[in-house]
Amino acid sequence: MALRAALVLHGPNLNMLGTREPTIYGRASLADVDKLIRDHARDIGVRVECRQSNTEGELIGWLQNAAREGFGGVVFNPGAFTHYSIALRDAVASITVPVVEVHLSNVHGREEFRRHSVIAPVARGQIAGFGPLSYLLGLDALAVIGDSFVSRPRRRGRRA
Ligand code: DQA
Repeated sequence: MALRAALVLHGPNLNMLGTREPTIYGRASLADVDKLIRDHARDIGVRVECRQSNTEGELIGWLQNAAREGFGGVVFNPGAFTHYSIALRDAVASITVPVVEVHLSNVHGREEFRRHSVIAPVARGQIAGFGPLSYLLGLDALAVIGDSFVSRPRRRGRRA
């Protein structure tokens, strides 16, 4: 089944985009990034909703409710939570909706502590280093795997 709706989650401090360390994160504001995401989603025929929170619990709630809210995939930039939030990792692991972890910056080329993601092992995949384009690539990835995600559990069942 084709992906119909995706949820985009921005974690802490991403509301500061545009003025926050522009040499690393660029000059686009969060509103600019969300517009790029919405335009791209429209182009590929996916309904999208973008949300930002500085609070771990709110992000966890959105992840837990993603399927109930009708989203077939999540594009998730966990911000600094990427590097240490076991609660967010467990939330991602607890849902069947595929989650693509994205980062504006290339976290693997930065400080040592940013090179480790506790989310990556339970995410469907990770895209980092392309600025706002990382989100669009995340959406594209969800659109491509939309199909296989739905059919995979059924195939496993048949084999058993
Ligand atoms: C970030 C990278 C994180 O290390 C950092 O804490 C952020 C933004 C990124 O998009 O590049 O807040 O997730």
